[in-house]
Amino acid sequence: MLGRLYSMDATAYLTSQRSNPAALHRGTAMKLLHLDSSALGANSVTRELSAAIVARWQDAVPGLTVDYRDLDNNPLPHLTGEVLTGADVAAKADGDATMDQFLASDVIVIGAPMYNFGIPSTLKAWIDRVAVAGKTFRYTENGPEGLAGGKTLVIASGRGGMYGDTSPADFQEAYLRQVFGFLGVTDITFVRAEGVAYSPQHREDALKAAHAAIPVPLREAA
Ligand SMILES: Cc1cc2nc3c(=O)[nH]c(=O)nc-3n(C[C@H](O)[C@H](O)[C@H](O)COP(=O)(O)O)c2cc1C
Repeated sequence: MLGRLYSMDATAYLTSQRSNPAALHRGTAMKLLHLDSSALGANSVTRELSAAIVARWQDAVPGLTVDYRDLDNNPLPHLTGEVLTGADVAAKADGDATMDQFLASDVIVIGAPMYNFGIPSTLKAWIDRVAVAGKTFRYTENGPEGLAGGKTLVIASGRGGMYGDTSPADFQEAYLRQVFGFLGVTDITFVRAEGVAYSPQHREDALKAAHAAIPVPLREAA
């Protein structure tokens, strides 16, 4: 029986599913994959939050291994026919390494802004490499089955407008929950700063609340 994953005292802007904490308690060789996808560089809300989330994990888990990829300055190419067939050898190698890195990770932290109601195309290109039939999901006679379970996913979400948890205009968080859930990743926490475009004060308040809502990983077994 495993202990709970996070302290539960932070609630502002935090929505989560904590169904699968197993990967967090495997001992010292835990691996964290940190991705950023914002195009706004030092002005990015999600970069600030994803870095803070990773720092929280590093504080909590001695010996944590962190791999980092900035999908803005080191993007994967779009999933074209040449990439899909392997004719683009370099892209195939990058895609294979991306899949291996994803499968090896216990914890994934993603900086994921809302761009045009969805996610940045750079993050979509990364997802196109890790959502692969036979590797991370499969179809059975009973329907689809995710093959990449047991991971914990924390998403730093930034939005200019206000959407809350259930807006029909949200193709960002809702999409991420859907696609990772399809792969079997159901332990997903969103740390959200929204309304950041309303005014400088909104942005400051949203960031403050989001920082306060960053979950604290707990390692104790029950
Ligand atoms: C190209 C682009 C598209 C955006 N589209 C939306 C949008 O559809 N809805 C929204 O609420 N905010 C939108 N925004 C605002 C961002 O979601 C907001 O600035 C957020 O902080 C982005 O995260 P970041 O600062 O880490 O890049 C957009 C911003 C950019 C640069």
